[in-house]
Amino acid sequence: MARLSLIIAPDPRLKKTAAPVTGVDPRLAGLMDDMLETMYAANGIGLAAPQVGVLQRVIVVDVAGKDEDPQPIGLANPEVVWADEVLNTYNEGCLSLPEQYSDVVRPRAVRVRYLDRHNQPQDLLGDGLLATVLQHEIDHLNGVLFVDHISLLKRNMILRRLRKWKKVGDET
Ligand code: NI
Repeated sequence: MARLSLIIAPDPRLKKTAAPVTGVDPRLAGLMDDMLETMYAANGIGLAAPQVGVLQRVIVVDVAGKDEDPQPIGLANPEVVWADEVLNTYNEGCLSLPEQYSDVVRPRAVRVRYLDRHNQPQDLLGDGLLATVLQHEIDHLNGVLFVDHISLLKRNMILRRLRKWKKVGDET
């Protein structure tokens, strides 16, 4: 396993649509492992391949609590096939937008179809935090960030902060 470097917004690579995979082979399962290692190292609960510079439809999530055993899930070609009409608000963050948070409203439960790390089709019903993370990560595959769901004013504020943050990082 290897830790991958994260792309920080604003970055044109985070605005691209990722391509479907033809199947999950050992190389892609290895990518899922590397993405999980990268996510855990950054204390994240979800990560999408475009965030590590891979434009393929692959995401990983783990919403297990601190005192629970890890529950890593790798999903290829994830697709929302059902969304609850009832909405939920979560204060979302993103590993590509370090230390930035905002309330985002999304369906409170979703059913997602995907290929697992063994290339088997699966069906996952997620609610609460898992539903939010799944939708957030699938958004990344379509070039959508959580800030695209909030007001332009708030979005610009966050992106301005990140630009400044990146500039400081470049100078040091
Ligand atoms: Ni994210």
